[in-house]
Amino acid sequence: MNAPVYSGRFITLEGGEGAGKSTNAAYFAEQLEAAGIRLRVTREPGGTRLGERIRELLLDPESDGMHADTELLLMFAARAQHLNEVILPALQAGEWVLCDRFTDATYAYQGGGRGIDMQRIAELETWVQQGFQPDMTILFDLPVETGLARAGERGALDRFEQEQKSFFTAVREAYLQRAKQYPGRFRIIDAAKQLDDVQRQLDTLVDELLTTQNVERTR
Ligand SMILES: Nc1ncnc2c1ncn2[C@@H]1O[C@H](COP(=O)(O)OP(=O)(O)OP(=O)(O)O)[C@@H](O)[C@H]1O
Ligand SMILES: [Mg+2]
Repeated sequence: MNAPVYSGRFITLEGGEGAGKSTNAAYFAEQLEAAGIRLRVTREPGGTRLGERIRELLLDPESDGMHADTELLLMFAARAQHLNEVILPALQAGEWVLCDRFTDATYAYQGGGRGIDMQRIAELETWVQQGFQPDMTILFDLPVETGLARAGERGALDRFEQEQKSFFTAVREAYLQRAKQYPGRFRIIDAAKQLDDVQRQLDTLVDELLTTQNVERTR
């Protein structure tokens, strides 16, 4: 039998369109659950009933004309609900939480992509999160064209996917900048590789998480 898990971890998956976050969230979750971790898989924007309604507003191509500040505030509005209703209670109950996009996405899309001053985003982050940060952030990095080609095969494009290539290039650069700024929590995956190669890269992160988990258990 697996030893009880008593310290929840918060892991976020980041990266541009079609990078493989959602595909690999399922794989990553399987590996952790097989090791006896109680895991909550969730996503942003969304993750709650109210948050999913905000997500619809954000992604709907009919929301054209949305001001960048409105977009930013809606992202944090959904996040406030998600944190308080799902993420923090799960972690406090000893579960781990795996979240498909979180605040680094806001820096990348609304900061890098839309050009909002990063400092303004940081102010909202402090307001909503009060210092709360992911324990590990996995950045799925790949050339913009590769990601867009993958995402395009899924069908109708959402409001973000309809942006110009320069938008996504800025998003990628902002993500890489975040990773450079916070090397302690970021792990970069080469997401351009074939799926089985990407999964081998994820396996080492699962090992890393479980190893540190065991070290804590024996303390
Ligand atoms: N390593 C890979 N090689 C080839 N195709 C892949 C790979 N990873 C994922 N895909 C495919 O690319 C498409 C996009 O993947 P996925 O939906 O997981 O990306 P995502 O990062 O969640 O994108 P979004 O940000 O738009 O939600 C899917 O059809 C998926 O099957
Ligand atoms: Mg996805």
